[in-house]
Amino acid sequence: MPDITLTTLQNLKQSGEKIAMLTAYDATFAHVACQAGVEILLVGDSLGMVLQGHDSTLPVSVSDMAYHVACVKRGNQGALILADLPFMAYATTEQALVNSAAVMQAGAHMVKLEGSAWLAEPIARLAERGVPVCAHLGLTPQAVNVLGGYKVQGRHEAQARQMRADAIALEQAGAAMLLLECVPSELAEEITQAVKIPVIGIGAGAATDGQVLVMHDMLGMSLSGRSPKFVKNFMEGQSSIQAAMSAYVAAVKDQSFPAAEHGFSA
Ligand code: KIV
Repeated sequence: MPDITLTTLQNLKQSGEKIAMLTAYDATFAHVACQAGVEILLVGDSLGMVLQGHDSTLPVSVSDMAYHVACVKRGNQGALILADLPFMAYATTEQALVNSAAVMQAGAHMVKLEGSAWLAEPIARLAERGVPVCAHLGLTPQAVNVLGGYKVQGRHEAQARQMRADAIALEQAGAAMLLLECVPSELAEEITQAVKIPVIGIGAGAATDGQVLVMHDMLGMSLSGRSPKFVKNFMEGQSSIQAAMSAYVAAVKDQSFPAAEHGFSA
């Protein structure tokens, strides 16, 4: 068991101390992130873009995920390891069970699934079999072809109402954590207050219980040369990657990141 458990995260939510999450894909960066105080290491399927050079996360396989989880586990020092199940790896509840087993046996402590209320069934089955689940709402990159691009979600009232209802339904189904990506700050705040589980945001304003960034983004590295609005380059003014990661953790904890300029309005 990691030092940071679901109970730690629940306590952080209750106390109002913000949770720092960062992506990690290998042992060395996992080690450095832990030294910097990162509480959750997300082995994200963003690895398809930042490591493998694809233009989306869709080509990532379960074995890619299990490989990188195993690498991160070797460098981990007490953080909770959260692993994405990749595209189509949980299209059925049976697939969700089998593929979660692969990443949990590789070293993950929790899995993340992108979707909406339809995730209630796999989440309930996974939770009752010992797999904690983080549900990912808002901009869900695995659905980029349905969404028509990487766009802010929940800007219209009907969409916002649906997202609030989905968050509550997924918590009731047994989700242990929620991640909101590219959601108007006000909506993210309402959802964070409406659920008891910790809510982590990326491009979702400052009111969520914690923040996550893709490590390459916060170190100012990008294949396209462009950086999303919600990203801050923490390498600026720092002389080492560990110092940049420590600055990120400090900014999440003292709530100077994200600033208003990193968020979206409705
Ligand atoms: O895959 C990933 O890195 C993610 C983050 C963008 C939240 O899901």
